[in-house]
Amino acid sequence: MIETEQRTPDLQAILDEVYAALEPRRGEGKVADYIPQLARINPQHFGMAIVTVDGAVYTAGDAELPFSIQSISKVFTLTLALGKHGETLWNRVGREPSGSAFNSIVQLEHEGGKPRNPFINAGAITVSDLICAGHSPREVIGEILRFLRYLADDDDISIDPAVARSEAATGFRNAALANFMRAFDKLSSPVDNVLGVYFHHCAIAMSCVQLAKAGLFLANGGKQALTGRTVVSRERARRINALMLTCGHYDGSGDFAYHVGLPGKSGVGGGIMAVAPGRAALAVWSPGLNQNGNSLLGSVALEMIAQRTGWSVFGP
Ligand code: DON
Repeated sequence: MIETEQRTPDLQAILDEVYAALEPRRGEGKVADYIPQLARINPQHFGMAIVTVDGAVYTAGDAELPFSIQSISKVFTLTLALGKHGETLWNRVGREPSGSAFNSIVQLEHEGGKPRNPFINAGAITVSDLICAGHSPREVIGEILRFLRYLADDDDISIDPAVARSEAATGFRNAALANFMRAFDKLSSPVDNVLGVYFHHCAIAMSCVQLAKAGLFLANGGKQALTGRTVVSRERARRINALMLTCGHYDGSGDFAYHVGLPGKSGVGGGIMAVAPGRAALAVWSPGLNQNGNSLLGSVALEMIAQRTGWSVFGP
């Protein structure tokens, strides 16, 4: 008989053990420096949080310190855009892993300005365009922030204006992507509005605890765990998780699935949010990145947590 019963893991003991094991390796990897404001981050930071579907919070290290969530925000903008446009969203963005860097422009030329998936930059810029429709950038940015505050039940979540300015000042590749898509007639709002929304949602600052709370609906069949309120349908939560699994780590998505076995989304600020369906949402932060632009220590930490908890979407 296959043994499927699992004892409830001692999550605090696991986090403490993983933290103790990895603490000497703090600072490994390379901090993103193409956005000057991100280059200023102390590479020694290391935090982890697990929030279970029954609302228990477990933490280690810098779990309460806000950091730039960067591309992790793309999960939440996708959720909002799906809410507004439903499945027609997929006429504008694909659902396939790109197999190339998050800011690559090459595929766009071959594929007529339709980005491979909503988590590469071109795809997330398209998602921003979809949320922008008929609204000012200020309204849209406010809506994204309110959505995150609601999900995390925390009004302290805000945008780091210095990071947003830094992104805008150096975002030449993103401007190129947006203009390229505009040339294919694939954006409906003005390029500057769309980029403004994109740069600002990437510059949202959140802690590991806030991120894990915000992502918990994806582990809980689309419902907010604490209030029981529906955020998205069960089916939509599964599908967003599927996209995180296949596309959440850019060119490193296969490797992350192999080692961690959970849907997850990374950001160049060094954060990763992951989802253990039916059990918990997890968030880790360590600013040093691996060669694919994903948190080096954060990926190792999630692999160790997944091994110790037995959590995986691929089997008991
Ligand atoms: O567009 C950029 O380059 C950043 N605002 C976001 C990139 C990012 O987080 C990619 N992640 N790994």
